[in-house]
Amino acid sequence: MTSLLTLHDYAAEASRRLSPPVWDFIEGGQGDERSLRANREAFERATVVPRVLTGTAEPETGTRILGADWAVPFAIAPTAFHAMVHPDGERATARGAAALPVPYVVSTMASVPFADIAAVAGGPLWLQLYAFADRGVTRHVIGQAEAAGMGALMLTVDAPRLARRLRDLRRDFRLPPGIRAVNLPDADLVSPGEHSRRAFAPALDWGELAWLRSVTELPLLVKGVAAAEDAALAVAHGVDGIVVSNHGGRQFSAAPATLDLLPAVVDRVAGAVPVLLDGGIRGGSDVLVALDRGADAVLVGRPVLHGLAVGGAGGVRGVLDLLAEELSEAMLMAGRPRVRPAPARSPVPSPA
Ligand code: FNR
Repeated sequence: MTSLLTLHDYAAEASRRLSPPVWDFIEGGQGDERSLRANREAFERATVVPRVLTGTAEPETGTRILGADWAVPFAIAPTAFHAMVHPDGERATARGAAALPVPYVVSTMASVPFADIAAVAGGPLWLQLYAFADRGVTRHVIGQAEAAGMGALMLTVDAPRLARRLRDLRRDFRLPPGIRAVNLPDADLVSPGEHSRRAFAPALDWGELAWLRSVTELPLLVKGVAAAEDAALAVAHGVDGIVVSNHGGRQFSAAPATLDLLPAVVDRVAGAVPVLLDGGIRGGSDVLVALDRGADAVLVGRPVLHGLAVGGAGGVRGVLDLLAEELSEAMLMAGRPRVRPAPARSPVPSPA
């Protein structure tokens, strides 16, 4: 479709195809949605100073993250319940990601078994992990991710529970019939928010990282870091990577835009581990802005769901190809011949 020339075009088309409650579940944020808007506003203000006469013909978009080759410096952010958006759910997302390939971080709340997603995946596949009050549940989820051959765990640390999202409350949002968190031992949940209050570990602390280390050998990233102090603590606790994120504005409306937080985090981490960013990436120039401010890679959330709604695997592929093409053009125009390779983790022992 020639009308799909930007990620915003995909969003507009997705909004026509999805039911209003599902659209609002995807698009909404916490409270008055300030942090949701802030993510975008920061990118809209941001610029990259072009370099000229750099002799660049074909920028190299590839990078290496945690020992794996990435064709592009962006990955699919973990988002829940893709079967709500397309009948093939996360299978379609993984197929769409396999083409380039683009790495895919699968949500704990995926609506398709991890093994089925892995069977059609083409690039790095990681698991986003929620920590449950019942550690047996957390172990169950990790065990399935390991069995599916996933390459890393990304613990979400900004969600003691899912926040009050007013759009969902106003609509009394319920998961449509048949949509289940199939990778949980107790897959039937009706309201994600209510389930999180019951099941998520409400009082997580840094000790959870040591526990995770004791049950898995997979590299461990933390997603949802905002403060530079917390980034330093994460490195001190032996994480393999940090994701600067405010959960796409879905958890805390007074949280700053992630792009504004990035430089202080990068400064503090000082190359000890890769630093990723998500929130508000809606085009190739946004990716370049984040890289320019020190991110090693970014994650993309809602636009992937828009592609999924528009055309299943083909729509996801369309969104990712478009983003890659825009990034390549942005790098060319800005005189950036390549993506700086991410640091490997320095050998700091993890705390016992
Ligand atoms: C999310 N996000 C999310 N994060 C997470 O750690 N686990 C999850 O299950 C989900 N689920 C989820 C569902 C939906 C519908 C959305 C929109 C988001 C947050 C996600 O990983 C990411 O942080 C943001 O989506 C990034 O912002 P953008 O790219 O959507 O602006």
